[in-house]
Amino acid sequence: MEGMDIRRMQECDLPAVLAIQADLSFQTWTSGHFKTEILDVNYSMPWVLNSDTIEAYVVFKILGDEAELCSIATRRSAQRKGCAFYLLQKALAELQSRGVVREFLEVRRSNQSAQALYRKCGFGECGMRRKYYPDGEDALVMVRDHASHEL
Ligand SMILES: CC(C)(COP(=O)(O)OP(=O)(O)OC[C@H]1O[C@@H](n2cnc3c(N)ncnc32)[C@H](O)[C@@H]1OP(=O)(O)O)[C@@H](O)C(=O)NCCC(=O)NCCS
Repeated sequence: MEGMDIRRMQECDLPAVLAIQADLSFQTWTSGHFKTEILDVNYSMPWVLNSDTIEAYVVFKILGDEAELCSIATRRSAQRKGCAFYLLQKALAELQSRGVVREFLEVRRSNQSAQALYRKCGFGECGMRRKYYPDGEDALVMVRDHASHEL
């Protein structure tokens, strides 16, 4: 990931972040959602992978000694280059250093690429939430336990 840095998301990043979502037809979050996370410095970790532009972002919410992966995406033209994997590995290491012992996430049953990414990062399926999404699709629940995975 030469020439790329990871930093906390700022309000000035929101046009680029929202453009990534819009281009992917993945508009799960509004500007207001992201702003809430940016302001929550203690319990939220909204991070961007940045070069000349924002290549990818991830948002984790810290809940005691656990964390929830709330949103992640990579700009279409930057996909399949290791951006999400790199960003996720760095975020997981940071969470571990803050005392988080496990992370959870929900992912659409049909989202094979995201599921493959999460498995590569050490997440495993631990449940299902039926009709979790507004369109009626089920969510797989995945978990990663730091005790069983070296970063
Ligand atoms: C899922 C997503 C974040 C992956 O981002 P990415 O930067 O392209 O991922 P990476 O290049 O870091 O890939 C890491 C691993 O993820 C998996 N992966 C990523 N894209 C994949 C695809 N299109 N098909 C299959 N596996 C895929 C692979 O296991 C890959 O490892 P490999 O390259 O060694 O095979 C990206 O496709 C995206 O933004 N999707 C739309 C938003 C989304 O679905 N977010 C998740 C919601 S739960």
